[in-house]
Parts: sequence; structure tokens; C-alpha cells
Amino acid sequence: MDVRFYARPMNTTSTAYTASTAPANVLLDGYALPALTLPNRVVMAPLTRLRADRRAVPQPVMAEYYAQRAGAGLIISEGIAPSVAGQQHLTQPGLFTEEQVAAWRRVTRAVHAAGGRIFAQIMHAGRNSHPANRLDGSTPLAPSAVRAPGLLHTLDRKVETVLPRAMTLAEVRQAVADHADAARAALRAGFDGVEVHGANSYLPHQFLADNTNLRTDRYGGDAVGRIRFAVEVTEAVADAVGAERVGLRIAPGNPEGGMVERDPAPVYRRLLAALDPLGLAYLHVTDNPVYPALADLRPRWSGTLVGNTGEHEETTPLTAARLVSDGLADLVSVGRPYISNPDAVERIAAGVPWAPIRERNFHYTSGPRGYVDYPRHDAPDGARDQEEGQRCR
Ligand SMILES: Cc1cc2nc3c(=O)[nH]c(=O)nc-3n(C[C@H](O)[C@H](O)[C@H](O)COP(=O)(O)O)c2cc1C
Repeated sequence: MDVRFYARPMNTTSTAYTASTAPANVLLDGYALPALTLPNRVVMAPLTRLRADRRAVPQPVMAEYYAQRAGAGLIISEGIAPSVAGQQHLTQPGLFTEEQVAAWRRVTRAVHAAGGRIFAQIMHAGRNSHPANRLDGSTPLAPSAVRAPGLLHTLDRKVETVLPRAMTLAEVRQAVADHADAARAALRAGFDGVEVHGANSYLPHQFLADNTNLRTDRYGGDAVGRIRFAVEVTEAVADAVGAERVGLRIAPGNPEGGMVERDPAPVYRRLLAALDPLGLAYLHVTDNPVYPALADLRPRWSGTLVGNTGEHEETTPLTAARLVSDGLADLVSVGRPYISNPDAVERIAAGVPWAPIRERNFHYTSGPRGYVDYPRHDAPDGARDQEEGQRCR
């Protein structure tokens, strides 16, 4: 990819820009991370799509999918299981066998060949799993034996969640080590870095939140105890691959998955104080209407901040750009629009609206449908999606 293609044009009267999309041009500026230079400020947010096989091995269609999206400043992969204990679904890809590493290598090569950059998101499910969704049929582990609400997909049906088992101290240490091992495996597989998933009700979040962490040992209790697991994981991963290749994602106050955080501010402020000196690649923060995480935490983080507007409102080019122009984020992650816009950045540059998702029931299915069949805006069938996009604005 020619980096200059995505640079902000000198001539802003170019006919490609409309009055309504021009403010989004701030997203087209390049940005230097500690170990990686990005041609624009748009990050493809992690999106679980469950296209691996039943042994958590990435499939060739995933290389096509990620390579199609190489125009993003940075791609963050879908959540990847660091271990069998960390699996949420059988067809969620893993980074705990050499076969998985080899298959990911084909994905990262395809992204790099298309001019892109890609981090691996390491995601430990904790209680958000089921014995039927794990290669060894084991009971999910969590900080405390507190069941997640709702139903969970297995390969063939939806099931009630089960009561997780509270982790022993040895299992906590093992989970930390598994994150570091997965990070090393990610670098061997050709990823440019890794993101620790500490958001959206997954294991580090389960340690941070009030209702999922009832521990009375050094991993529970006050803010210092609650942040300990997230800090140890991030430090171990940074030791394994270099802090400049590590990001951490958090979603303070996000109630998704039945999480209760009565007063997120003191906990997350302390987490940032502990991690700021490490020199991480970035902190990735998801906002929400309950606790304005970006406004509160931006001034407390000296490094790069990736912002996400949250799942309550789908990101648009303008809401993404506003995070940058309001000084709340350096980079912006974009999730759902990347399902239906493989060329989301190129559309901003061309002043073309983002196309809507056609069929939402293909988010978590197998195969190419709803996955690699969304056209670029300049493809022959791209015009139709574009017209639909105009109507949806
Ligand atoms: C289908 C789907 C899968 C997702 N999977 C992940 C994931 O694996 N890891 C993660 O951190 N967030 C995940 N998210 C959250 C997104 O990264 C993002 O924060 C969310 O969609 C809000 O941003 P948006 O409005 O740009 O879509 C997922 C969201 C969707 C819709």
C-alpha cells in the first residue's frame, strides 16, 4: 500500500470531499506508535467472527477477510484464546498450538502483503464459557464462583451458562503465564504486537468488577487488589514481547455480560497509574453513557490512547473524528462498520458513506457469507451498498 494515498490531501477543495464528510479527514493523518508508524488514525476494532475450525485453527478465509481490511491504520484481530482454559467458543481461534501459529502466519502474511499492520487480541473468557465450548470439556474458571447471566452459543444450540469455579492462586499464575505465552506465539505468527483484552466482561474485567470478584486474597478487595491481575498480565506480556508492542483494552463501567462496577473511577485511575510508566504501545478505552471513561482517563494517560465510542451507538466517520478533534483520543477504533466496509478508510478519503450491514445473523456463522462478500466502494457492486448507506444516514 502506498502510505501517501491515505495522507490528508493538501487540496481540501478536492471534489472527493463533501461538506458533511470533510471533518472526518482528521482520521486520515498518519500517526507514530512507539514501534510502528500508521498511515491513518483508524483502527479496526476487534470483532469476534468464529471462523476457525473446531480445534481453534484459523481458516484460509480469515486471511482473505483481514487482508481486505488492510487499509486500516492498524487492525486488531478478533479475540484469540490464549489457552484451552481461556476458550469461549470452540471456533474462536487460538494461539496455544503450533498448528494455530502456522495458520495465523498465513493471515499476518496476507495482511502485510496488502500493506497492513495487525495486532493479536488475547482474550481469556473466564466465566463466559461452557464445558461444551472447550477442547477438554472443563468447567470455566473465574475470580469467584459467580455465574454469568443469559445464554451462550455452543456449536449446535444455545445453553444456560454454568457456575464457574473460583481460580486457585496457582491457576491465577497460570492464566498470567498463558497470556505471556500467547503473546510470544503471536509474534512468532507474524503479528506486529498484541492487545490484552481487559474489557467487555472477560477475565481481567472479571477481576476488576465488583460483582464478579468476591475474593478475599491479594487479587480482591480494594482497588489495589482488583487491578492486580490486569497489571500482572500486562507486565508479563510486556516482558515477553516488549512494552512497545503491547496494548491493553478496558471498558470501565460497561455492564455487558452482567458486570457491575459501582464506582469505576478510583479503580481505573489506579490501574492507569500502575501501567502508565511501562511505555505501552497504547491504551484502548471504550466509552459508555454511565461513566465517561474517555473524558476521565485521557488526562491520566501519557501515552497513545485509542478511543471507541461504545456499543450503544454505532461509530460513524464523524463520531470517530470528533474523538480526535476533541482531544479524547489519538486513534479511534471502528467495529461494526468494518463488517460491511472492508475499505472504511478509503471511503472516508473518497467522501463515500459507510455501507450498512446487510444481514446481522452472519456475525458468528462459518464460511464466507456476510464475511468476505462486502464489496469495496469502487467495485462494480459497491455502488448499490453505497446507495443503501446514503438512505441509512
Ligand atoms: C460482532 C462483534 C464482535 C465483537 N468482538 C469483540 C472482540 O472479540 N473483542 C473486543 O474487544 N470487542 C469486540 N467487540 C466490540 C467492538 O470491538 C466494538 O467495541 C463495538 O462494536 C463498538 O464499536 P462500533 O460502534 O464501532 O461497532 C465486538 C463487537 C461486535 C459487534
